[in-house]
Amino acid sequence: MKPLLDVLQSRIPERRPIWVMRQAGRYLPEYRAVRDKAGSFLKLCYNPELACEVTLQPLRRYDFDAAILFSDILVVPQAMGLALDFREGEGPVLQTVHNSSDVDQLRSVGDFAEFSSVWQTVELVKAGLAKKKTLIGFCGAPWTVASYMIEGGSSNRKQALAVALENPAWYGQLVEKIIAASVLYLLGQIKAGAEVLQIFDSWAGDVPMAAQKRLVIDPIKRIVNAVREVHAGFPIIVFARGVNSQHSAVAVGTSASAIGIEEDCSLAAVLASLPDKMAVQGNLAPSALLGSSDALKVAVGAVLQGVPKARHIFNLGHGITPQVDPAMVAKLVDYVRAYDAEQL
Ligand code: CP3
Repeated sequence: MKPLLDVLQSRIPERRPIWVMRQAGRYLPEYRAVRDKAGSFLKLCYNPELACEVTLQPLRRYDFDAAILFSDILVVPQAMGLALDFREGEGPVLQTVHNSSDVDQLRSVGDFAEFSSVWQTVELVKAGLAKKKTLIGFCGAPWTVASYMIEGGSSNRKQALAVALENPAWYGQLVEKIIAASVLYLLGQIKAGAEVLQIFDSWAGDVPMAAQKRLVIDPIKRIVNAVREVHAGFPIIVFARGVNSQHSAVAVGTSASAIGIEEDCSLAAVLASLPDKMAVQGNLAPSALLGSSDALKVAVGAVLQGVPKARHIFNLGHGITPQVDPAMVAKLVDYVRAYDAEQL
């Protein structure tokens, strides 16, 4: 009935589901207007009415199959007690942790005021969503969230990786707390109406293969298990960006319902390596939206080649960038639909 849910639950969808990471974002003038009205990105995240409005904006413009909650993965460390700021043109600036006593001071259970306003956004979006559209909730994966808590921003993750590899004791304590807070955050999103979850491990590609199980797979699996203990079989998309040849190990190791794939990685090849009914999501390069329409059409065809709609969620390989012309996104949706119509 809902194309995205159908794919995640191994039914044949009536059409190939499409959504775009960062679909509510700066490339849309109406997003920029609401963000200005809110005063800042973070104020927007914590204002349920305005956050609901920007969550729904892309669905008014485009025939997408899903809305993704408007919030940020860094809401979790902020709720745990770390000061957070987003500076124009600089990205996030997060207070850092340096040792086990810093970790001891973080909160991971109890009431989080930050979370309740996000949950309220979910409720409002759910109430405003058309019948066939699916509402996606999300959180960051422990490795990616920990990397921001250790480095304070989007740097090169070298320091975070050194801690994870050389100080497994306090890194492990930190991850335990991130898992506890993330599970609470996600269960609240489900209670408020989220129908699918995506776990973003944006920096998974930085982790050496020998440490992938401990740093990427096992912590995500803990979150998946904790959610499904309460909601059996809940649909969860795991996006371990950049693991390339290791997507099937991540898929199997985390029990994801679908696996997100970065660009420059063949969807058809990953699909062939996955267990029977598992789906893939992705993976048009965001830069394909910056070139000509003709080049975009060719790039869309290359992504779709050999990838059946029953096992695919169309998306980009990473978030859409602010420079994109909104008209190109409409063309993207048209090209995907036209490709499928020609196959019939
Ligand atoms: O996808 C959506 O439309 C839903 C909302 C969403 C945002 N961030 C809004 C946002 C989601 C799912 C995220 C996830 C997120 N946040 C990730 C994982 C996905 C990824 O992109 O790898 C990460 C690493 C973050 C942390 C973060 N937030 C960074 C590094 C930045 C700065 C980079 C940038 O694009 O500016 C943000 C800011 C942010 N989060 C913006 C939006 C729309 C732009 C801020 C603005 O409007 O000023």
